[in-house]
Amino acid sequence: MESKKQESVETLPGVGAATAEKLRTVGYSDLMSIAVASPGELVDATGVTEQAARKIIKAARVSMDMGFESGTDLLKKRETVEKITIGNKGFDKLLGGGFETGAIVEAFGEFGSGKTQLGHILAVNCQLLKNEKNPVAVFIDTENTFRPERIMQLAKGAKLDPKKALENIKVARAFNSDHQMLLAEKVEDLIKKQDLNVKVVIVDSLTAHFRAEFIGRGTLAERQQKLNKHMHVLLKLADTYNLCVFATNQVMARPDVFFGDPTQAIGGHIVAHASTFRIYLRKGKKGSRVAKLVDSPNMPEGECGFYIEESGLKDI
Ligand code: GTP
Ligand code: MG
Repeated sequence: MESKKQESVETLPGVGAATAEKLRTVGYSDLMSIAVASPGELVDATGVTEQAARKIIKAARVSMDMGFESGTDLLKKRETVEKITIGNKGFDKLLGGGFETGAIVEAFGEFGSGKTQLGHILAVNCQLLKNEKNPVAVFIDTENTFRPERIMQLAKGAKLDPKKALENIKVARAFNSDHQMLLAEKVEDLIKKQDLNVKVVIVDSLTAHFRAEFIGRGTLAERQQKLNKHMHVLLKLADTYNLCVFATNQVMARPDVFFGDPTQAIGGHIVAHASTFRIYLRKGKKGSRVAKLVDSPNMPEGECGFYIEESGLKDI
């Protein structure tokens, strides 16, 4: 299955070197991505006729084992899922015991709502996982907001050795969206070549570069395609290596909403659909923060409040 997935797109009927190149530049670099594409997307990407696009997709689907797993296999897989505590009972309970490995958790909310703080806490607390040998965090920092001093404080709060905790977090600054995508792909090298036991990958912020670089309607499709490719890489990491991906996302104002919450997460459906859990963060009364679980496969929607303090998240 893995080797099939990696098979080159040139093996498909009607895909020569030039078409293959066009496909790759917009993110269709393996058979799986083509097997799940729609004909319209391939037409837009390569300029082939719709009939040819259908043929290509069909061939990709045939050559791939589209992978049915038995319920028992999936249950076994679920048993390997681990939960990283956020250090606050209410918040952990909201997520069914903590932040799950094997999943993407998206946190969205306005500036100062606590997204980056949650990222720091996860980077520290993944090191508390009992069944893991030397768990490590990867922090992809796009906004230059990673702070080692903050890690040391939180590590003390979690009763870990602050220096060791810092050593077990691998940080990389991403200077633009392409760089960010490349870094996500490089996480696999850390796991395979450096033999690191990566248990959480933090992407803070997931969408800021994409938002800044693709402005205006005309570029929206291109942005979403790139973001889609990025999400696929992250999803595959989460799934293949049973790690938790934590991605933060800003919100934008929605002038068309008069009732309810007038904010909306950047990245739209692409990010929302790829995420297993979605958490909406907002500022609450007296400097508190409120986390709301808005999307989850097996937990009810709910909210909890907390304060961000030096040692971690405290109950209200
Ligand atoms: P943007 O990245 O701007 O969208 O915001 P964000 O959601 O990432 O916000 P962030 O996680 O940076 O939240 C910052 C908030 O955490 C601030 O309002 C601080 O008051 C609070 N905070 C950060 N560190 C500490 C700390 O050591 N002690 C306390 N009490 N609060 C802290
Ligand atoms: Mg932030």
